[in-house]
Amino acid sequence: MIIKPVIQGVVAKSAHPLGCKQALINQINYVKSAPAIKDGPKRVLILGGSSGFGLAARIALTFGGAEADTISVSFEKPPGDGRTGSAGFYNDYYFKQFAQQHGRQAINIHGDAFSNQVKADVIEAIETYFEGEVDLIIYSVASGIRPDPDSDKVWRSSIKPMLEPVSGATLMLENDHWQPSRLEVATEQEASDTIKVMGGEDWEKWIDALINAESIAPGCQTLAFSYIGPDITHPIYLDGTLGRAKVDLHQTSHSLNLKLANFDGGAYAAVCKALVTKASVFIPGLSPYLIALYKVMKQKGTHEGCIEQMQRLFTTKLYSQNPVPVDGERLIRIDDLELDSDTQTQVKQLLAEMNSENFQQLGDYQGFKNEFLNLNGFGFDNIDYSQPIDTDMFIK
Ligand code: NAI
Ligand code: NA
Repeated sequence: MIIKPVIQGVVAKSAHPLGCKQALINQINYVKSAPAIKDGPKRVLILGGSSGFGLAARIALTFGGAEADTISVSFEKPPGDGRTGSAGFYNDYYFKQFAQQHGRQAINIHGDAFSNQVKADVIEAIETYFEGEVDLIIYSVASGIRPDPDSDKVWRSSIKPMLEPVSGATLMLENDHWQPSRLEVATEQEASDTIKVMGGEDWEKWIDALINAESIAPGCQTLAFSYIGPDITHPIYLDGTLGRAKVDLHQTSHSLNLKLANFDGGAYAAVCKALVTKASVFIPGLSPYLIALYKVMKQKGTHEGCIEQMQRLFTTKLYSQNPVPVDGERLIRIDDLELDSDTQTQVKQLLAEMNSENFQQLGDYQGFKNEFLNLNGFGFDNIDYSQPIDTDMFIK
């Protein structure tokens, strides 16, 4: 079939395998040219490793100096019924190929990370491929729902403020429209359900399962990703349902740190920069901030993508200093360039002027959209999108 970008609202409904391959090549080339990770982990488990920060971490750890073997868990769709696979499906497919060519193992497990079955499957894979132990566990699952593994209940996250209603805008990638939105305050039930989905509980279940299975290597670390952002994003993020979930994740990092201390290891939440990913374009009200931020950081030469963030995290924070540098709340901060005060002053000015008419001129909407297309394998100059693709070859 000939594969074209199909976007519904802010959700990609198609993905191009050769473009996903190109995006991987670009990220691999970046980490090969960047300062290398020294004394890094050799056996890494990544939960949510098929896109965004999880995939970037996987690439950095395999190709950026650590020479790690990886097991990744993700929830992705293979091609079928006349539809393409999801981008993460192709990312997994090509990552495995490139890792093997590089002499490294890459195991892809497709399934629900929240389930007991996938936890058992991963423990078995660790036995088979990693001689029974892991050195690093990265928790990078981003999901809107979490099925309760012990009942037929399903928790759903909400993205809403907690203090007062918020007005903002979502940039509709489907038709390039600025769509005003107003979000009502979440109920306590919505907040606690969001914590169930995006808080630390499942991360802790993973670590407990791995401890019980004796799969934790001496010195083992675990890492999850968080976002704090500047005050202008607090009404929708930090002071909202997602922020509640992140605070829960931070608390989990402290309890896991105590558990892993028994293995001379540690647990951290790493606070990252706002970036275009499948998950983040979904946050109502955040996209005007993102295009203002991209504009300013690119002008200043401080812009980073997921891959730059991850390589810098491993070379300057997690595997560079002992003890690992953290802030007063024991968080690793890799969001310093985003929160730079001059950057934020300029972003605020831009946002104050930005509206439905001028957002494409004032903000970096083209960069935002192009990055979204790239995430799904589109918008690469060197790929001939008029050539048909045999999608069946990916499922054999
Ligand atoms: P993403 O959507 O690119 O990646 C999410 C990953 O989770 C994918 O690999 C997906 O397959 C996997 N996944 C989703 N549901 C799953 C399930 N039930 N079972 C197994 N795997 C599942 O998202 P992104 O943005 O990389 O998010 C990862 C983490 O980074 C999240 O905790 C997010 O809050 C955090 N973060 C994101 C920022 C951003 O601006 N994108 C900024 C700071 C933190
Ligand atoms: Na991820």
